[in-house]
Amino acid sequence: MIRMEGVNKYFDDFQALTDINLEVPTGQVVVVLGPSGSGKSTLCRTINRLETVESGAIAIDGVPLPEEGKALARLRADVGMVFQQFNLFPHMTIKDNVTLGPMKVRKLKKADAEKRAMALLDRVGIANQSHKYPAQLSGGQQQRVAIARALAMSPKVMLFDEPTSALDPEMVNEVLEVMADLAREGMTMLVVSHEMGFARKVADRVLFMADGAIVEDASPEDFFTSPTSSRAKDFLGKILAH
Ligand SMILES: Nc1ncnc2c1ncn2[C@@H]1O[C@H](COP(=O)(O)OP(=O)(O)OP(=O)(O)O)[C@@H](O)[C@H]1O
Ligand SMILES: [Mg+2]
Repeated sequence: MIRMEGVNKYFDDFQALTDINLEVPTGQVVVVLGPSGSGKSTLCRTINRLETVESGAIAIDGVPLPEEGKALARLRADVGMVFQQFNLFPHMTIKDNVTLGPMKVRKLKKADAEKRAMALLDRVGIANQSHKYPAQLSGGQQQRVAIARALAMSPKVMLFDEPTSALDPEMVNEVLEVMADLAREGMTMLVVSHEMGFARKVADRVLFMADGAIVEDASPEDFFTSPTSSRAKDFLGKILAH
């Protein structure tokens, strides 16, 4: 579903991604770990072309990423992304946040988009908040709206970049549970997260990045019990220590 071949990404002279080769089959859940600055967000952002790459090839469901225009808008709809900061439109109600994309990009009629939005809001447990504005919701609720909004586009792939790290601790689980449900339903997911419980329970595969490269690519079991690189051992030592 996601294929990256020989991808290199620079910010001026700085190489942020180095020779990334990655194939994610349909329905697989990949958790991406790694220290700050290792390129995890950049990896996500290249997959829906929020960042361009200097060399290499990226394809979603067999189709190379389009450069611009309508095809790019469609790609963005196919590849849903949920960020650390929820990025909801503050001046629009929850329902309107969820219906906007499907109406504009997928050309759904308003009534159909609203029906779908309410079903998705129900699925993430906040149908009763649909008339409110983002600022009137808790962080956990806002993030669940962000997930519903991405799902409203019927994406083929969902990318999550630290979706719970801006949340108060008591709200983390409600978001992780929505993500785990999505994984169970067979969504192809790439998740940057340091939630180790989620990685162990939900991930099919763990990628560990350091200095812009994928250093380890293993099952959660193998990664957590016997990491091979010193970078990963060091990382796990730090994060499991607290
Ligand atoms: N727009 C940009 N311009 C210049 N350098 C950038 C830009 N975005 C990212 N970088 C650099 O690329 C490297 C990788 O950044 P990235 O945000 O992908 O790391 P990350 O693994 O997501 O880190 P974190 O865990 O802190 O979110 C960092 O050194 C960062 O400073
Ligand atoms: Mg990041």
